[in-house]
Amino acid sequence: MALPDSIEWARAQDQADPLASLRRQFALPRGSDGQPLLYLCGHSLGLAPIAARAAVDAEIEDWERLAVLGHEQARHPWIGYAEQLQPQLAQLSGALPVEVVAMNSLSVNLHLLLASFYRPTPARSAIMIEAGAFSSDRHVVAAQIAWHGLDPERELIELAPRPGEWLLRSEDIEQRIMASGRGLALVLWPGVQYSTGQYFDLPRIIRAAHAAGACVGLDLAHAIGNVPLSLHDDGADFAAWCSYKYLNGGPGAIGGAFIHQRHLQRTDLPRLAGWWGHEAATRLQMRPEFNAAAGASGWAVSNPPVFSSAPLRASLPLFAQAGMPALRHKSLALTSYLESLLLELASAELAIVTPPEPAYRGSQLSVRVRAGAQRGRQVFASLGRRGLVCDWREPDIIRLAPVPLYNGFQDVLRAARQLAAAAHEPR
Ligand SMILES: Cc1ncc(COP(=O)(O)O)c(C=O)c1O
Repeated sequence: MALPDSIEWARAQDQADPLASLRRQFALPRGSDGQPLLYLCGHSLGLAPIAARAAVDAEIEDWERLAVLGHEQARHPWIGYAEQLQPQLAQLSGALPVEVVAMNSLSVNLHLLLASFYRPTPARSAIMIEAGAFSSDRHVVAAQIAWHGLDPERELIELAPRPGEWLLRSEDIEQRIMASGRGLALVLWPGVQYSTGQYFDLPRIIRAAHAAGACVGLDLAHAIGNVPLSLHDDGADFAAWCSYKYLNGGPGAIGGAFIHQRHLQRTDLPRLAGWWGHEAATRLQMRPEFNAAAGASGWAVSNPPVFSSAPLRASLPLFAQAGMPALRHKSLALTSYLESLLLELASAELAIVTPPEPAYRGSQLSVRVRAGAQRGRQVFASLGRRGLVCDWREPDIIRLAPVPLYNGFQDVLRAARQLAAAAHEPR
């Protein structure tokens, strides 16, 4: 049933929304007229929490005040800065605190984790990803294969949707993993696909990969802070994410990684070690031998970038305050509202790519302009002129994300009307 294309209805939903006040905790970007822009782009860069500035300022003040002594004496001692983020990252990823670590950025973390988990043998050497994976993920796996002296053309399996379809079906993923069988070393899969917004059935993919004898790693760039995750119970071997999208950590914010508990004590896993992965108690003895820290922290290499971690101190507590179940509930409601309006207002012009089943999507809807990519670019350019911030992904996708922390039903209504109006503009 279509939801009302009515500002009164949308306003009433916002008034009844128990999470509505969280919006005030974020800075909305403004247009040249000084008015707040309509921002549906948290799948690319999350908004700045108002408290982020104070969090960064506190570290700069402590640097000015304490210099090197800040490692121990800062209000949030820098020496253990990454560890202070562990409980909240564990909560968001459904992991034990010991299984997560804040470090580096996403592609770097994928490399570090693949250095441990991609150990090709003559019998088992292939990596499976989705066709159309985010470019960096493909570069990472192809480079890893080549790093081992193997040929990415032979060893990289890229799973495409059925002809004429743009989403991957769970049963096809499962079947292809099983069919790859003994040659498959590793599956690298996204939690939520960056372009289509498809939220995959992760437990099913993980089970299939393990049944085939392969390791499974997850790219959670578009999943963490967006959809509920239970990495520990689902049993993925490892995962990595960035923090600048739904986690609102700011541009280039420190990324994160998960390594399942069952791997944490293994001594047979090689790792690209550095001093920050050494156990904290003896790290500064500067001894030549490497004793890994217990837990995922043992995969850290360098000391953490404090200024690109500090905004997370402002943003992660907001997730705890709201609660992931409530955020998911609102996310589903906002996304369904956007879908309903687009179907009502512009279904002749626009096709929604993202799955219609709420269980298979997060906050994002990806839209194609039926008349083709050239017309799609025009529509997208018009959205920019209209003050709607969303984004374009080649070859022909407009992505919009109503983010439950700071978007409301009125935003969704205004965005849908703008998109419909742009799609109806004369060519
Ligand atoms: C799915 C996915 N993988 C990898 C990356 C690359 O991230 P980074 O530049 O932090 O390595 C991104 C960035 O947006 C992404 O969305």
